[in-house]
Amino acid sequence: MAVAETEFAWHNGEFIKWADAKVHALSHVVNYGSSVFEGIRCYETPRGPAIFRLPEHIRRLFDSAKIYRMVIPFTMQDIERACAAAVARAGLSTCYVRPAVMRGYGTVGVDPTGAPIDVFIFAYPWGPYLGPTALTDGVDVGTSSWARPAPNTHPTMAKAGGNYLNSQLMKMEARANGYVEAIALDTDGRISEGSGENLFLVRDGRLWTTPLASSILPGITRDTVMTLARDLGIPVTETPILREAVYIADELFFCGTAVEVTPIKSVDRQEIGTGKPGPVTRRIQDAYLSLVKGKTKDERGWLYPVAAD
Ligand SMILES: Cc1ncc(COP(=O)(O)O)c(C=O)c1O
Repeated sequence: MAVAETEFAWHNGEFIKWADAKVHALSHVVNYGSSVFEGIRCYETPRGPAIFRLPEHIRRLFDSAKIYRMVIPFTMQDIERACAAAVARAGLSTCYVRPAVMRGYGTVGVDPTGAPIDVFIFAYPWGPYLGPTALTDGVDVGTSSWARPAPNTHPTMAKAGGNYLNSQLMKMEARANGYVEAIALDTDGRISEGSGENLFLVRDGRLWTTPLASSILPGITRDTVMTLARDLGIPVTETPILREAVYIADELFFCGTAVEVTPIKSVDRQEIGTGKPGPVTRRIQDAYLSLVKGKTKDERGWLYPVAAD
């Protein structure tokens, strides 16, 4: 997927030219993967562009930084305002927002002490992550031979750049096997999540999803889906999920900022349910897309208006 460049990037408190948003090749982040970041979507709504659950994403960014002992030299509110300003500067209404915090140039060796902290924010256009028909028709996925990181190795609650080496292995293997995306197991062999999204299973009208202890990223879309499901009267259970439960699910779907709510048609070439997006997935998908696009009432104040900044 090629980058759709815009004109400016935000760097350490000011806007710079997109082309100048660079780090040195000997930066700590380049050599040791020391970055934390967020992926956020902004949607066009009847009241103007709105960033979905921006404060929750920025809180997770600060949580990720804290886990890695990185001190971000801005407040959460500074970064929220800068994200909104980046969208406004780009003149976009529907776009992706990528704040990234990284250990920069100035030290050698693994110990990051003394490496400066660089903060960048980009806003750019980004379409459906798993292909143009993913949301309507669903996707074919495969179980990865790579497991998610074991507890006490790479913290999966942190959205850290280094974690995505594992995701890259999963994704490349899935593509090589003719799948659009992978589902990973945890190191106990239970279901974890996709390479960049969380997973929900539907059986007998109920939703099931894996808990944080199954080596998942605590997805903000996952939380949104659980909340919307409860609003719709659909029971939700967070519990460890066995691999075989996926094959006998009535419906299966991924959720995440990038994939939104994407139905899964098959896993390991076994059809899930009817092999078509099911009614529960559709209800959740409709509720999600209506909410983020401001078509239903934003009862929880999850739409962060861009224009107000
Ligand atoms: C590994 C992983 N799991 C889950 C998610 C979904 O998280 P969110 O809904 O906050 O985008 C993402 C996306 O950031 C991810 O990279």
